[in-house]
Amino acid sequence: MMISLWIGSFLLYSVRNNTRQRLLLRSVEINMQSEGSLTHGDARTKDRWENLHSQPRFLPKYPCESVVRYAFTRLAGQASERLSLKVLDLGCGGGRHTQFLAREGFSTFALDFSLVGLRQTAQRLDAEGLDASLIRADMHALPFSSESFDSVIAYGSIYYTDTSGLQRCIDEIYRVLKPDGTTFVFTRTSDDCRFGNGIALDDRTFLFDSNKTNEEGMKNCFLGMEDVYQFFGNFQSVSLDKLEATLNNGSVLNSDWLIVASK
Ligand SMILES: C[S@@+](CC[C@H](N)C(=O)[O-])C[C@H]1O[C@@H](n2cnc3c(N)ncnc32)[C@H](O)[C@@H]1O
Repeated sequence: MMISLWIGSFLLYSVRNNTRQRLLLRSVEINMQSEGSLTHGDARTKDRWENLHSQPRFLPKYPCESVVRYAFTRLAGQASERLSLKVLDLGCGGGRHTQFLAREGFSTFALDFSLVGLRQTAQRLDAEGLDASLIRADMHALPFSSESFDSVIAYGSIYYTDTSGLQRCIDEIYRVLKPDGTTFVFTRTSDDCRFGNGIALDDRTFLFDSNKTNEEGMKNCFLGMEDVYQFFGNFQSVSLDKLEATLNNGSVLNSDWLIVASK
């Protein structure tokens, strides 16, 4: 009895160890654009993100429901259709949506200017033996050819800039989308409780200057409803929804646009 238990444990240990070795043998690589090409991203915002991504509490585990719904209803409900669809997770952070897309079989690309975030993303993918192309670059100047993606998902990322930067990101998304491609963008509305906090840089943008927020030192650009139609003016169609939620007994109002735009 003791001997068979011992052999059982040994076999289990060997299988686990072999799996671990196999997983460690392949490691998702990060394609690094040179520091010089990170020109438009704000250096201070980048440093803040490097710091936040190195803290486990800023590493969300689960994909957001709106991303899951968009992927299955607007991109491909059938698993067999997904490998042929090239999807970019723009501003991937710690990689929760990259992991979801790769796991569900999409041909997945992920871009961020935070190396720490990309390393977290690579680790998540490695842990499940998943594949994706990871690129460190600036979202204002995407290092991809025009018309190369079926979809770009930008969840909570492209508003870390000012008005001209946000327009530039949207123009870049438009450029890299294939003619019938779609984008899903989750971005802050001007009803969000953070609007007006800090130093005004232009009509829509504020540089947060309070150490009460973990976004201190970052630029945030907020859009009104008319702004959305104007900023996405090149797209054939724009579907717009608003998601609002209060937190901390009503003291915080998160207000965001859910935008699906077709080229
Ligand atoms: C709120 S996080 C969202 C991360 C991820 N999309 C998610 O939902 O978990 C915003 C991300 O945008 C990235 N980001 C901000 N400005 C950027 C820029 N100029 N170029 C590339 N990435 C940027 C940050 O590094 C960060 O990972």
